[in-house]
Amino acid sequence: MPSLLKRLARLAPYVRHSRLGLLGVLLAAVVTAATEPMVSEMLRILLDRGFKAGGLDPWVVPAAIITLFTVRSAASFVAQYGLAWVAQRAVLQLREQLFAHVLKSAPELFSQQSASAMTNTLVYEAQGGASMLAGTLLTLVRDSLILVALLVYLLTLNWQLTLIVALLFPAVAFVMRLLGRRLHRLTQEGQQATDQLAYVVEENILAWRIVRLFGAQRQQLARFMARADTLRRLVMKSVVAGATMTPVTQILAACALSVVIMIAMAQGRSGATTVGEFVAFVTAMLQLVAPAKHLSDVMAPLLRGLVAVERGLDLVQQGPVEQGGAYTGSGAAAGKGATAGNGATAGGGATAGNGAAAPGRARGEIGFEAVSLRYKPDAAPALVSLNLQVAAGETVALVGPSGAGKTTLVNLLPRFIEPSGGRITLDGVALADWELLALRRQFALVSQDVVLFNDTVAANVALGADLSREAVREALRAANLLDFVEQLPKGLDTPIGHNGNQLSGGQRQRLAIARAVAKDAPVLILDEATSALDSESERAVQDALERLMQGRTTLVIAHRLSTIEHADRVLVLDAGSVVEQGPHAQLLALGGLYARLHAMQFKA
Ligand SMILES: Nc1ncnc2c1ncn2[C@@H]1O[C@H](COP(=O)(O)OP(=O)(O)OP(=O)(O)O)[C@@H](O)[C@H]1O
Ligand SMILES: [Mg+2]
Repeated sequence: MPSLLKRLARLAPYVRHSRLGLLGVLLAAVVTAATEPMVSEMLRILLDRGFKAGGLDPWVVPAAIITLFTVRSAASFVAQYGLAWVAQRAVLQLREQLFAHVLKSAPELFSQQSASAMTNTLVYEAQGGASMLAGTLLTLVRDSLILVALLVYLLTLNWQLTLIVALLFPAVAFVMRLLGRRLHRLTQEGQQATDQLAYVVEENILAWRIVRLFGAQRQQLARFMARADTLRRLVMKSVVAGATMTPVTQILAACALSVVIMIAMAQGRSGATTVGEFVAFVTAMLQLVAPAKHLSDVMAPLLRGLVAVERGLDLVQQGPVEQGGAYTGSGAAAGKGATAGNGATAGGGATAGNGAAAPGRARGEIGFEAVSLRYKPDAAPALVSLNLQVAAGETVALVGPSGAGKTTLVNLLPRFIEPSGGRITLDGVALADWELLALRRQFALVSQDVVLFNDTVAANVALGADLSREAVREALRAANLLDFVEQLPKGLDTPIGHNGNQLSGGQRQRLAIARAVAKDAPVLILDEATSALDSESERAVQDALERLMQGRTTLVIAHRLSTIEHADRVLVLDAGSVVEQGPHAQLLALGGLYARLHAMQFKA
């Protein structure tokens, strides 16, 4: 475990620009600490001089008390406000980095982390962790200062007695270290258990229909409860660890107090100390208990907060980010730090966000050279040394049994997955050399599973680009969806609900097609794009798709024959390799796998 200070130092970049706030907090803490011994000192003056004739004016002490407490309250407000200000600015910065990281992270992240775990990190842990840290850091600074101020005061008052009090500290520190380590481990385990609990909830919300249909409620409840109980046990363990600290420190404090009183009484009898001094000493010593207790309690929330925030920091600082090349398809490679303006680009393309030149339009030549892919080292390969050349404007149909690797093949093109071997090119340039934004500009994809945003119809069609309403309508018309959309209460501006759940399966698919039409990319990828359509709308959409395919390179995965028959070439995949290829009629005549698949379809 790296030292606590080193771990805290990782937070520095997030508070660096809030130095003024931190300074305010520090000043406020110093003021609070300085006023602390004054309470005891006032008691000493009052007892030693206030009750004697001709001692003090009657208004002096009350006025001092009011002034003292006003200053303290103001300081306490400033400290809390200042700290919250600093912490919340840090949270905002961290959140921005986290979300930006999710947007550009390497695709592995999405197979490694569940949505609920990521939500937890970005939404709850960042906030909760930072608030916890802010609170404990304030305690740490303020109460340490109070402790120092009181100890200095005690030393000046009676140094022999103070040394006895000081003996307490090593003992307390030892107990804190011991329990701190245990708490740290329990906190991390607790976090994992929380993620797992959230994961069960996530799955059951996504799959509520299946759970009910199969009557799996009891089993799911048991799964949930097993995790909930693990969490409960972990929380109890950390409560025990946390709660042990307080009594142990208190017993140590009581022992010290008793010794002090015994010695002070002896000193008092011999006239070495006054009543005022003794009372001031005991008061200041009792005042020590509160900050000492706060400090001993600070470890648990400090560690919990730190672990929570570190989860986000680890993601931002160590999570791999996807890397693109410099080729933008516009002929010239974009130099690093090219100064293309961030305004609207001429030609209406999407604006390159990171200052790269506006992406050019690819011709659409695709090449696969001995490409192989394994999802996991021990799994069977999904693609085996696959070679494929697709000319610009060609339409290639991919067919093959389920699990043959069709979706895998097309997912390689926008670099959603990386090949384990071989080389893939677009326009003769390796995919890895393409600038990512430019590369992805070249593909319109209608995939097997349609994903829609909880936004309006128009926003879902335009997604990421600035399209005119006319262009959106045009795309919807091409996808045979415009009539339906115009009937909707708010037309193009109708919200479509969470992942488009207010639409039918076929409507969702047509919306995805409209999105692809609107994108107007040189390469079109259709992964069973018409599987959810009835025959009639399929025909209509098919026409639209055929118009769309003109002048574009198209890879189409389809079970239905109408699409395949029109393709320039059919590629039959089986277990990750190309087993047959050629025009439809030729493959039929061959009497191989394609002929068998074809015969089965006609029977069905
Ligand atoms: N994310 C993944 N992780 C691990 N293995 C995967 C992953 N995606 C696919 N596979 C495996 O890779 C193989 C090819 O899958 P792919 O999705 O490309 O098949 P497909 O030809 O599109 O099938 P279908 O017609 O059913 O859509 C399958 O054996 C599948 O189990
Ligand atoms: Mg597939």
